[in-house]
Amino acid sequence: NDELFKNVIAHAKEYGFVFQSSEIYDGLSAVYDYGQYGAELKNNIKTYWWKAMVQLNENIVGIDSAIFMHPKIWEASGHVAGFNDPMIDNKDSKKRYRADQLLEDKIAKYEKDGKTAKAEALQTAMDDALKAEDFSRLKELIEEHEIADPVSGTRNWTEVRQFNLMFSTQFGAMAEGSDEVYLRPETAQGIFVNFLNVQKSGRMKIPFGIAQIGKAFRNEVIARQFILRMREFEQMEMQFFIKPGTEMEWFAHWKEARLKWHLALGTSTEKYRFHDHTKLAHYANAATDIEFEFPFGFKEVEGIHSRTDFDLSQHEKYSGKKLRFFDPQETDKEKQSYVPYVIETSIGLDRMFLLTLINAYEEQDLSEGDKKDSRVVLKFPPALAPIKATILPLTKKDGLPEKARDIMDKLKLDFNLQYDEKDSIGKRYRRQDAIGTPFCITVDHQTLEDNTVTIRERDTMIQERVNADDLEKIIGDLVSW
Ligand code: GAP
Repeated sequence: NDELFKNVIAHAKEYGFVFQSSEIYDGLSAVYDYGQYGAELKNNIKTYWWKAMVQLNENIVGIDSAIFMHPKIWEASGHVAGFNDPMIDNKDSKKRYRADQLLEDKIAKYEKDGKTAKAEALQTAMDDALKAEDFSRLKELIEEHEIADPVSGTRNWTEVRQFNLMFSTQFGAMAEGSDEVYLRPETAQGIFVNFLNVQKSGRMKIPFGIAQIGKAFRNEVIARQFILRMREFEQMEMQFFIKPGTEMEWFAHWKEARLKWHLALGTSTEKYRFHDHTKLAHYANAATDIEFEFPFGFKEVEGIHSRTDFDLSQHEKYSGKKLRFFDPQETDKEKQSYVPYVIETSIGLDRMFLLTLINAYEEQDLSEGDKKDSRVVLKFPPALAPIKATILPLTKKDGLPEKARDIMDKLKLDFNLQYDEKDSIGKRYRRQDAIGTPFCITVDHQTLEDNTVTIRERDTMIQERVNADDLEKIIGDLVSW
């Protein structure tokens, strides 16, 4: 599995999906750039989510709020006081670690060595310490379990300290004297603070949702597993505003709806599981993660949280503005105006990208007898594939390129296509397999006579002859949402 994951990362770079940021300057840790095919794949995932949320639900609308927000928002949301990781430094190596991660690694080691009781005891002790925010206890546990710095090998640790995950920057001059603003660590608050704007301007009635896709920033201390944990990433979040008391119904609804969205891409159900939270964040009264089995184990891809009226009430308090919904249908006057409850669905776009890439990646041995052959193919769901079809003239002469261009011109307004005339046809097919193109359309001498082309399907590699005039329908049927 380690090997497989390494190969996926190498493939992502070689074929223009993901690059390390600032690579020619030796990179910037936990920051990545998307290449020419990566950007297309990412856009297609966004579209798939946006259509499922905004286009298919009449009562969900989408917004695009700014990354910069008033600094008070992060006080109200609890991020200034509470969005911290407990950090510990090794005095010899001068390296900094997340204390809970050191303990998690030890727990994993105990489990691997079959020391289940020890693993469970340490897990409970760590959870209790984190819940009580007892940081000296975390250090005690690190010492008791003789955890050494993987770099220096020593156990010369500092105290555990709190480290806020928000990035801050200077913002001109603010009236209140402070000019420090944060880069948002989640997109959700941009939705909460626009709740009334959207509700009033869109004449939205509860229940209704607001969706948004956008960048978020977290100063993660440990960068791991490629694009799973980044310092700059994208979220696709939806806040669903509901009547208090109906949250469990809606929580169940969104749990089911979101898993369906994942499974509609054709991924096997065994690769997914829910992880219901027993330890709840300060704002939640129910929470679950949708986890996917990556080569390095099950990891969270999406969170579904019942956030009560925590956020809107906090913003009422900090802004002094009323953030209520008035329900004219309600006969009980006392209950006519209320602060809505919220169910949130929050998925990491980059994690979904990694999931899609890993799920699609396949190394195939195509050897027949003594004839060695192999290919790497990305079996993307056709709707998500970066390139939908590639047009290939069999040779560079006899008017085949011109005919191929003609066909391409008729289709390129509807589909993202590529044209390729370089190298043997076999090599060209392999290149398209490696970027996950569902169709290769070959123009040969027969095309000039009867306007038929061969169309090769990526997964089966089966070729069929079809009329060039039917291509729009054939491709359209397969790559449509
Ligand atoms: N508004 C709720 C919220 O932000 P979260 O569980 O902290 O909840 C939601 O984040 C999703 O965002 C996660 O399930 C994950 O997919 C993604 N995510 C969080 N931190 C990330 C990071 N450092 N890099 C990439 N994706 C991240």
